[in-house]
Amino acid sequence: MLKQRAVVAGVGSYLPEKVMTNDDLSKIVDTTSEWIVQRTGIERRHIAAEDQNTSDLATIAANRALEDAGVSAQDIDLIIVATSTPDNTFPATAVAVQHNLGNQTGYAFDVQAVCSGFVYAMTIADSFIRAGNAETILVIGAETFSRLLDWTDRTTCVLFGDGAGAVVMRAQPVADGEPEQGILSCHLRSDGSHKQKLYVDGGPSSTQTTGQLRMQGREVFKHAVGMISGVVTDAFAASGTTADDLTWFIPHQANKRIIEASAEKLGIDINKVVMTVEGHGNTSAASIPLALDVAVKDGRVQRGDLVMLEAMGGGFTWGSVLLRW
Ligand code: UT7
Repeated sequence: MLKQRAVVAGVGSYLPEKVMTNDDLSKIVDTTSEWIVQRTGIERRHIAAEDQNTSDLATIAANRALEDAGVSAQDIDLIIVATSTPDNTFPATAVAVQHNLGNQTGYAFDVQAVCSGFVYAMTIADSFIRAGNAETILVIGAETFSRLLDWTDRTTCVLFGDGAGAVVMRAQPVADGEPEQGILSCHLRSDGSHKQKLYVDGGPSSTQTTGQLRMQGREVFKHAVGMISGVVTDAFAASGTTADDLTWFIPHQANKRIIEASAEKLGIDINKVVMTVEGHGNTSAASIPLALDVAVKDGRVQRGDLVMLEAMGGGFTWGSVLLRW
């Protein structure tokens, strides 16, 4: 019997032109490049131009992924944009991307799971494909977090950046007994009891303003490694694989120390970890597809590789996606 599996057919990303270094930040708030590098690993981040919205970043990344996959915009059944920085409260940023791409036959919606948005969106895409409800899905993580930051708060404004990454997911039939390609397992979690530890202090129904990002960094840090390790261990158990079987570990890029501590706890060789946090900062839902694109384009990720994606963020939300490239 044939089963449908969700396979990554192409990947693309986009970083805005403007680069903000740690030294640039030290002119705005009371900080130093040494502190930022030592505590986070971040050296610089990209900032969207005034006339660039999240959908603009997403559209460039999407076009690059479509080109990489050799897929036309007309062939897309579904567009999912993972973002916490939509162009507007509604409609979804995904419909703006759909319009920009010139797709009129598919449907589009946003997913809001903050930094875990991309693994949530990949999980939804996997479910649609397995159920036979879509054959070609564009999954995008896109953010303009610079618009949500309090640029007087040194504890948060040094951490984030803007960017977008996208993958084209396609249904691929697999016969029983054949080696599996594509998404092997998805594990999602959330725990709203932590919602005040990382949040935006505004919104249409509460303050009628957009609000600014607030975070108890140390509290988030305290929970991150355990939560990440939990969903990665779940993925190993569900797929009968181990840390040794992994070819690449592509985590959400929030903090080098969290990434290194998670890899160590899970017994993953640090040479298998894709790290882009130094050049991108934390781009929330965009960080995994941005890192994935870097590692695919520089030749690290090859067909047949076993790749683990994971993220943890506001909510708290967290999750993992294990796939055979
Ligand atoms: O995307 C997913 C969600 N986000 C995260 O994963 C972020 C998780 N948290 C973190 O990455 C870290 O907690 C931070 C990088 C945010 C902070 O690192 P930390 O080692 O936990 O530092 P801390 O908050 O304990 O602060 C240490 C000191 C404090 O001073 P005192 O109280 O010890 O005198 C802060 O006021 O560092 C001070 N500080 C700074 N100093 C210079 C905080 N921010 C800065 C700064 N520059 N930018």
